[in-house]
Amino acid sequence: MLTEPPEGCNANGMSLLKTGRIERVRVPLGNRSYDIVIGDNLLKDAAGFLQPLGLGRRCVVISDTNVAPLYGEMLCESLRSAGFEVSLLTVHAGEASKSLRQASRLLEKLPGLRLDRQSVVVALGGGVVGDLAGFVAATYLRGINFIQIPTSLLALVDSSVGGKTGVNLPQGKNLVGAFYQPRLVIADMATLKTLPKRELRSGFAEVIKYGAISDAAFFRWLERDYRRVLRLEGAAIRKAVRRCCELKAQVVSADEHESGLRAILNFGHTVGHAMEALVEYEGLLHGEAVAVGMCCAACLSVKRAGLKRADAVRLRALVKASGLPTQLGNRFAAAAMLEAMRLDKKARAGKVRFVLLKRLGATVLSDQVTDADVEEVLHVCR
Ligand code: NAD
Ligand code: GLY
Repeated sequence: MLTEPPEGCNANGMSLLKTGRIERVRVPLGNRSYDIVIGDNLLKDAAGFLQPLGLGRRCVVISDTNVAPLYGEMLCESLRSAGFEVSLLTVHAGEASKSLRQASRLLEKLPGLRLDRQSVVVALGGGVVGDLAGFVAATYLRGINFIQIPTSLLALVDSSVGGKTGVNLPQGKNLVGAFYQPRLVIADMATLKTLPKRELRSGFAEVIKYGAISDAAFFRWLERDYRRVLRLEGAAIRKAVRRCCELKAQVVSADEHESGLRAILNFGHTVGHAMEALVEYEGLLHGEAVAVGMCCAACLSVKRAGLKRADAVRLRALVKASGLPTQLGNRFAAAAMLEAMRLDKKARAGKVRFVLLKRLGATVLSDQVTDADVEEVLHVCR
C-alpha cells in the first residue's frame, strides 16, 4: 500500500493518493528506477502522474485499432488539458504489428511531429503495443522518455514492467530489441473491463506463474480466489496485479539484463514457446501455451527437481479451473517440439535449460533434463 506520494506529484495525483485509490510499486534500478501506479480509472488523470517527471511537452501516444477507439481520446484529452502537445498513432491490433516495418513507419513520423530528446512516447495497449512503442522510444534519438499504460492483463502483470522492448523478425519472435526501462507505468484496472475474456484468461496464466515460481502464499490465495480475480472484482484483481508487479520488480532489479535470476520468469515458456512457434503464433494465445508449458514443467519438476507430485497436481488444477488448457493435444509431435526448443533463443549451444520447481514458490534452473524426459512428459501431457 502506498505510504508516501511520489515526489512532486501534482494536485490530481495527490488527491488520488490521499483517498487511497492508488497504490504504487517501485522498480528499483538506480537512476532508472520508476513507479508502477495501480488504480481504477486513472487514464483521465494520466497527466497528473506524468507532470512530476519533468518531461517535454511533445508526446506521441501509440496504440492499436482495438484499444485506441476505447481509451485513446480519454488519454489524449487528459494530456492536452495539462498542456502536452499530443499525437495519437495507431497500429493494427495483433502480433503482426510487432515488426521492423511497423517500427520504421512509426519512427519516420516522429521528426515531422518535432519530437526531441525531452519528448515522450506513451504505449497504450497490450504487450504488442508496449514492446513496439518501447522499441521506438529506445531507438529514436538513441532513446527518449517512455511511459507504459498497459491495458491487457498480460501487459499489466508482465510485459509493461522490466524494460524488455522489441519486435519480431520473420525468423523468430523478439529477435530485435533493447532493454529500455519506462519512466512510469500507469496500471488502470478499469481498462480490463473491455478485454476479451479469452485474453484475460491468457494473462492469468502469467499470474499463476508468479505464484508458482516465487510466492507460495500468493499461489494459495489464487487457488482460493481465482474466480474473484477473473470476475475482475476490484480488490482481488488489484491484489493480483500488485503482487505480480512486486514480484517482477524484485526479479528485474536483481537481474535487469537476464544474466541469471530473471530466467525464472520463463517458467512454462520453454514448452510454451515451442508450441507457439509450431503453430506459427496462430490460434494459440501466449498464456494458453504457457499454461500447458507450466503443466509440463511441473511434471518435469517432479522427476528432476523434487517437486511433490501433489503440488504438480495443485498447479494443474488451478490452470484447469481458470479455464486454461493443461494438455498439448495431438498436433505437437515430440520430435518437432524438441527441435523448436533447441532453436529457442534461450537455449545455449542447442542445450535446452528448464526452469523447474523445487516446491511451489521456489525454482531451480536445470540443464539435466534429457530428451527422453521431455518426450515422456509431452506424452503424459498429451
Ligand atoms: P496484445 O497486445 O496483442 O493484446 C491482446 C489483444 O487484446 C489485442 O487484440 C489487443 O488489441 C486487445 N486489447 C488489449 N487491451 C485491451 C482492452 N483493455 N480492451 C479491449 N481489447 C484490448 O497481446 P498481449 O497478450 O497483451 O501481449 C502479447 C505480447 O507481449 C507478445 O508480443 C509478447 O511477446 C509480448 N510480451 C512481452 C514481454 C516483455 O517483457 N516485454 C513479456 C511477455 C510478453
Ligand atoms: N517476460 C519475461 C521477462 O520480462 O523477463
